[in-house]
Amino acid sequence: MCDRITTNSVWAETKTFFPLFFDYLEKQNKQISVCVIGASDGRFVVPLAKEGYTVVAIESDPTLLNGGIISVGKNKKIEILGLKKRLELENEFKNVKVISKNFLDMKVNFKVDAVFTSSTWDCSINHNRPVKEYIGKMQAIIKPKGIFCAEYMMPCEDKHKKIEHFIDEKQINKYFDKKWKIIDEFYTPVFNDLPHIGKEIEHIHRMGFFLAKNK
Ligand SMILES: C[S@@+](CC[C@H](N)C(=O)[O-])C[C@H]1O[C@@H](n2cnc3c(N)ncnc32)[C@H](O)[C@@H]1O
Repeated sequence: MCDRITTNSVWAETKTFFPLFFDYLEKQNKQISVCVIGASDGRFVVPLAKEGYTVVAIESDPTLLNGGIISVGKNKKIEILGLKKRLELENEFKNVKVISKNFLDMKVNFKVDAVFTSSTWDCSINHNRPVKEYIGKMQAIIKPKGIFCAEYMMPCEDKHKKIEHFIDEKQINKYFDKKWKIIDEFYTPVFNDLPHIGKEIEHIHRMGFFLAKNK
């Protein structure tokens, strides 16, 4: 990953295909507004803001937003700054609007050119609502000709197979009607991941990625 898009974050060591989204935005060569859903402590928000994009950051976890102590492994706790202080320190708060809410509970009254989300709809807080609602709500805030890019967790353990929020190969297009064109899509093999927030021990993951355009 090039330096511009490497950023300090509690998630910094985990896999992401965000640079593909970042490259795509750069090629558009115009002023773009981006909404990051599940902004966490700014892994994606900070580099987008630094590049001059207008960013709306939506995050429901108060510690990731305001800083504090989090657990990142068995008996391992760290203190984090949180998104708001990071933006202040980097002097990047002017073109970022931070919204401290559960995205599913928000009454959204804005539209953006692009939405990015990374492993959010599979979080347990969203399991009580259909994944179609989550994905549809993201699509609804994207302007015509806008971009929707997501990386997501695929089922790779038995327990995932019972939860529709872990979307399997070739299933993502079920959530897109003909107004959308999926222009890039791929899946990783199953890989090992180190402990991180929410997972205290080493574990396995499989990820999917897509970039879709609103026709
Ligand atoms: C598993 S983390 C993703 C981390 C990501 N891979 C990264 O590198 O930043 C998911 C983040 O999305 C947030 N999130 C999940 N569901 C959300 C919702 N409905 N509304 C707002 N934030 C949400 C969580 O609080 C968490 O910070």
